[in-house]
Amino acid sequence: MDIIILPSADDAVALTVRIIEEQVRRRPESVLGLATGATMEDVYRSLVRAHLEDGLDFSQVTTFNLDEYVGLTHEDPRSYAAYMRRNLFDAAGIDESRGRLPDGAAADLTAECRAFEEAIRAAGGIDLQLLGIGRSGHIGFNEPMASPASRTRRVVLAPETLKQNGSYFGGAEHMPRLALTMGIGTIMESRRCLLLATGKEKSAVLAEAVEGPVRAMIPASALQAHPACTVICDEPAAAGLRQRAYYDWLFQHDPAWARFRLTTAPPGSGCREG
Ligand code: F6R
Repeated sequence: MDIIILPSADDAVALTVRIIEEQVRRRPESVLGLATGATMEDVYRSLVRAHLEDGLDFSQVTTFNLDEYVGLTHEDPRSYAAYMRRNLFDAAGIDESRGRLPDGAAADLTAECRAFEEAIRAAGGIDLQLLGIGRSGHIGFNEPMASPASRTRRVVLAPETLKQNGSYFGGAEHMPRLALTMGIGTIMESRRCLLLATGKEKSAVLAEAVEGPVRAMIPASALQAHPACTVICDEPAAAGLRQRAYYDWLFQHDPAWARFRLTTAPPGSGCREG
């Protein structure tokens, strides 16, 4: 696991965008796993800008979103499908046939989850999975006690998640209690994972996920066992990390990150192109 700590949220978003952009330019038919939420809005804004201004071409890309609320149709403005259309798909030219989310309004949710997994397999698997982290420790909507072997399925949202996302529904009490989510096992099969965490409200849970034991109570901790996972965070989100000097050391000395580093600033002060 690579932990990259950057001075600001803008720097963290910029590096995340750059990695996604390089993936799509290198392999135009990439399969991307996408997340929603507040953290990702700036990522998608920058990707749309790269599409409109720098010709980043999404026409051959296939995407799979992590999750969707049960009971909302994809036309519902509070659905994650609507979020994706608003924030990325419409402006980047990703149509419904290539931008897939689980359908939380499907009559048979078990069949929907099975079909979603099958579609990922048929697309050749996910090349790059973008992830946020919830205050409950979730990735996707894999809430505390989710099995590391879990597949796409219906889940119950944790109270902490209702608090985190309640404002989108006019209060936690109006939020759906159920969602469909890719499983941790599904996420772990992605060739590469990229977790972006910004802001001080993520610092405690990020420290547990990265430095705590791998345990079902903190679903994001499963990523410690992923063979190619990069965590990108800003200083406030990194505030709870005990080994940050070591992560900075690795970042400064790993040739794989050389072209992403600052050339003039002291070690640990983040990245800009050298
Ligand atoms: C949503 C998802 C969630 C979010 C997480 C962080 O598709 O995958 O795991 O990434 O809840 O959300 P924000 O960015 O709103 O703090």
